[in-house]
Amino acid sequence: MSKTQWLRIVSIGAALLVGFWLPLRLIQFRIPLPIDVVMDLLISVASAVNIYLFFNEKDRSWRRPRDWLSPGLLADAVCLLPLSLLEVLIFQTQHRSLLLLNLLTIRHIWRIKAFLDEFDSLPPVVYRLVPIGLTMPLLVHLVACAWIALGSGTAGPDPDHFLEYVKAIYWSFTTLTTVGYGDISAKTPAQMLFASGVQVLGVGVFGFVLSNVASLLSRMDAAREHHMDNLDRVETFMRSNRIPQELRSKVRTYYHYLWKNHRGYQDQSLLQDLPAKMQSELYFFINHSMLEKVALFRTAERELLEELMNELKPRIFSPGEKIFRHGDTGDALYFIHNGKVEILGAGNDLIARLEDGACFGEMALVSDKPRNATARAESFCHVYTLPKDAFERVIVSYPKFRAHLEELAGGRRSGKAA
Ligand code: CMP
Repeated sequence: MSKTQWLRIVSIGAALLVGFWLPLRLIQFRIPLPIDVVMDLLISVASAVNIYLFFNEKDRSWRRPRDWLSPGLLADAVCLLPLSLLEVLIFQTQHRSLLLLNLLTIRHIWRIKAFLDEFDSLPPVVYRLVPIGLTMPLLVHLVACAWIALGSGTAGPDPDHFLEYVKAIYWSFTTLTTVGYGDISAKTPAQMLFASGVQVLGVGVFGFVLSNVASLLSRMDAAREHHMDNLDRVETFMRSNRIPQELRSKVRTYYHYLWKNHRGYQDQSLLQDLPAKMQSELYFFINHSMLEKVALFRTAERELLEELMNELKPRIFSPGEKIFRHGDTGDALYFIHNGKVEILGAGNDLIARLEDGACFGEMALVSDKPRNATARAESFCHVYTLPKDAFERVIVSYPKFRAHLEELAGGRRSGKAA
């Protein structure tokens, strides 16, 4: 961990300490001055850290007067002062109001977000739950302490401090979550105003926590959620366009196949934001099973494969679908990742049946003639296509690749290869 990360931990720790300890100290405990002074010293150290972190942030400078006037920095500068000693000096007693200023340190609890951001391998669930898990108990505690300070409603101040605190936590929790049983309720005008404010805050807090939890739950299975979304949209589209049942069930079967074999993700647009080199590394990994299957690729150089990986486009054909027809212009080369493809002659006679790892559509590309047969998917077929322009680019640098394809085409023409 870097120095800044350690300092952030100090800042967050101090915010939590101040948030939990100071309100309790102010409402319930009489503490000897030396303990107050030690705690105050700790808060001053944390404030110095906060000031350091403030100037450590990007776009901030010690030399710019505007930055010195930032309200956040001024608040930290106030907390840097030995407030407990000043209190005794000014008021001749361990007065309470000056210490309250130290509560300004609590706002640094938000540093937890910046802290977590620096760990790139944390699961998203941690990013969301840790800030909520730290701030919600603190909020409940602060509201409970303020409630005690205001006289604790109908329950009234309790001689047993622990019981009084537990009751206040209970009130704070039920009010913030908008449950509000009403067994402890506001009595004085100040309590009523405070309770109204907490109820308004509660609506926001409750909404925030609920929406985060709901979005977390849906993200736990983002792939299924994405798939369901697609299915919903397609179903609505088919219903509104009165698509016949038979066709609908074909579409559903396709989506079912997509889910079973690709977790619903078909397109590679997801990766388009990545640098080209990283994309090809990823494609290499994703497609390694296909690379192992296709005989043509097994002997190919690594550079050729890397280039091909960036150009290959995945496509899925449903059973009976024509991939191309006899006489079409050759626009791409095809590699079967999985599935079966029938090669049919001009009279629809079956010439060959190709399976996983086979390549087809090479004849039109190497000879620049129209397709000499029709290709039809026999089952669901997951194929990779290499568009003609990419093919032409690749064979300039890798003549061996062309030679292999010519050899394959020659063999097929003479009936020696499938
Ligand atoms: P192309 O002519 O581009 O389009 C039809 C494809 O069918 C052809 O390329 C070959 O890839 C494939 N093909 C043609 N004849 C045979 C065969 N006898 N065996 C296997 N595949 C063939």
